Amino acid sequence: MEQELKIPNHVAIILDGNGRWAKKKGLPRTVGHVNGMKAVQRTIAACQKFGIKTLTVYGFSTENWSRPKEEVDFLMKLLLRHLINKANKIIENKIRFVVLGDKSRFSPEIQNAMKKLESDTKDFTEFTFNVALNYGGHAEIVKATKEIAQDVKDGKISIDDIDEKIFESHLYTHDQLPPDLIIRTSGEQRLSGFLLWQCSYSEFYFPQVHFPDFNEEQLKIAIQEYSKRDRRYGKV
Ligand code: IPE
Ligand code: IPE
Ligand code: MG
Repeated sequence: MEQELKIPNHVAIILDGNGRWAKKKGLPRTVGHVNGMKAVQRTIAACQKFGIKTLTVYGFSTENWSRPKEEVDFLMKLLLRHLINKANKIIENKIRFVVLGDKSRFSPEIQNAMKKLESDTKDFTEFTFNVALNYGGHAEIVKATKEIAQDVKDGKISIDDIDEKIFESHLYTHDQLPPDLIIRTSGEQRLSGFLLWQCSYSEFYFPQVHFPDFNEEQLKIAIQEYSKRDRRYGKV
């Protein structure tokens, strides 16, 4: 008998292995990134099909700016092109688009395209697609801390008011539930700063597949693995 699938509400993916995928084929890393973008689109569709409500992908970390300039420039062009060309499809599919991260380091064109798509899709409730861009878990926690310190300084709250709820309200994910399942492709078993606050009770899964080969079948395997987990949240 086939095992019953427990569908996670929120799946988050550290998309890794674009470069290795390309290298294995004797292609430049950039081709890996182009195919990684295609895999993101496939994964959104697969999540919607399975009834997952939120997909978060880690697209660009605060550390990724240290890659060679040509690679960063290519990724920025690819990002801008997708923000512009895929906007209609995202709106047609009633997907709420949210950027997690500090937008201010991106070019004005990219920032405008991000803000426009966020605002055009903000009222959709069926499915949320978060993309972590210029995101770092440490940076996010520092941002929250500074905002809370400012609120105390301005007399809006007192130190005793600070609790987990208030802290969460200053994170990029303030109006969202935490990830149930975090997948990192390519076999690497680390977070690289992803959702450090939000992952406290997430389940983890590390498939060997490089992200450009990720598809509905791979997602199904991840959900099957998740379905076997016993989430106790500290209870017996
Ligand atoms: C993930 O693939 C994409 C980004 C981090 C932008 P990588 O580019 O990290 O691919 P590998 O890890 O070098 O194979
Ligand atoms: C993590 O991948 C960041 C993203 C997926 C955007 P990296 O490939 O940059 O991480 P490390 O360097 O292997 O930890
Ligand atoms: Mg990598």
